[in-house]
Amino acid sequence: MRVLITGGAGFLGSHLSDAFIARGDEVFVLDTGSIVKVRHLLSEPRFHYVHDSIFNLELIDGLVAKVDLIYHLAAVVGVEHYVGDPYETLNVNVNGTQNILKAAYKYSKKVVFSSTSEVYGRNPKVPWKEDDDRVLGATTIDRWCYSTSKAVGEHFCFAYHKLGMPVTVVRFFNIYGPRLDRVDVGRLFTIFMGQLLRGADLTVIGDGSQTRCFTYVTDAVEATVQAGLNPKADGQAINIGVDVETSVLEFAKLMLELFGPTKSKIKFVSQEEVYGNSYEDIPRRVPDNTRMRQLLGVEPRISLREGTRMSMEWFRKEAQS
Ligand SMILES: NC(=O)c1ccc[n+]([C@@H]2O[C@H](COP(=O)([O-])OP(=O)(O)OC[C@H]3O[C@@H](n4cnc5c(N)ncnc54)[C@H](O)[C@@H]3O)[C@@H](O)[C@H]2O)c1
Repeated sequence: MRVLITGGAGFLGSHLSDAFIARGDEVFVLDTGSIVKVRHLLSEPRFHYVHDSIFNLELIDGLVAKVDLIYHLAAVVGVEHYVGDPYETLNVNVNGTQNILKAAYKYSKKVVFSSTSEVYGRNPKVPWKEDDDRVLGATTIDRWCYSTSKAVGEHFCFAYHKLGMPVTVVRFFNIYGPRLDRVDVGRLFTIFMGQLLRGADLTVIGDGSQTRCFTYVTDAVEATVQAGLNPKADGQAINIGVDVETSVLEFAKLMLELFGPTKSKIKFVSQEEVYGNSYEDIPRRVPDNTRMRQLLGVEPRISLREGTRMSMEWFRKEAQS
């Protein structure tokens, strides 16, 4: 099988590429980013890295025509980006997504669209089922543009599905693991890891009681592969994540414990100090993952302790190399 992965040189895309290469498939990655996360695949003849953008329509047309399955992961991701550059977030996540969906429709190819737990916004009723409400703030607050951009992408996916195109929406919940972002930026794990490697304090926003459901990357990738291969997933939105809640404070303590002797401690900071006034944190995000388990047949296997240990080991080695 030939698979196109847009954003395939990113964190999730690189692991998804590994999974399809391991299955014996041929993988085409389209990404504007660096090759660092897929460098181990460059000598593999079934792996093709196309360093270009989802705004290159001619290129997309050619790639989509020759593959059997498309994963659309390319996006502007990360709070610092969507608070810092809302135009780019909306442009890539909405208009870029259009380019991929249009080409897939032209050639009747299946698309798996990577969406996010952020689409549920601040809906207080957890766990979130796929058809639950989206509860968001005002459009004058940049913080909501990422959620909205992904929700627009989802609406287009379902519209194309009505027109007969096979499409599946996967909503990821805090996926972490080796190759996630760079230390010090991006998401919680990499921010804490960067602080630990520098011997700095771990900055916990607020009182740290806000929770996340951390999902190890290989569990998420297994479900994502199934979302592409299982025809029962067509026309569905599927939450991808574990449903075990961990508070940010508990997570910081776990990382401190697993890191071993360090002078780092936990430091509580205000949200404004870190993100300014245009960010609003979500107190609890919990997936109802029944659909992932029953429809895709995937049970998350890696515990938070084990996944965090493996990720920390990887980042430590990277820091030494
Ligand atoms: N990791 C998570 O926990 C998580 C949670 C929710 C949603 N997601 C979604 O999963 C997908 C992958 O996320 P990730 O964590 O791997 O992030 P990532 O930033 O590592 O990957 C995104 C990739 O898209 C590429 N990209 C950006 N603009 C592009 C363009 N114009 N053309 C081609 N490539 C472009 C980037 O270079 C990057 O490699 C994203 O769509 C994201 O919204 C991830």
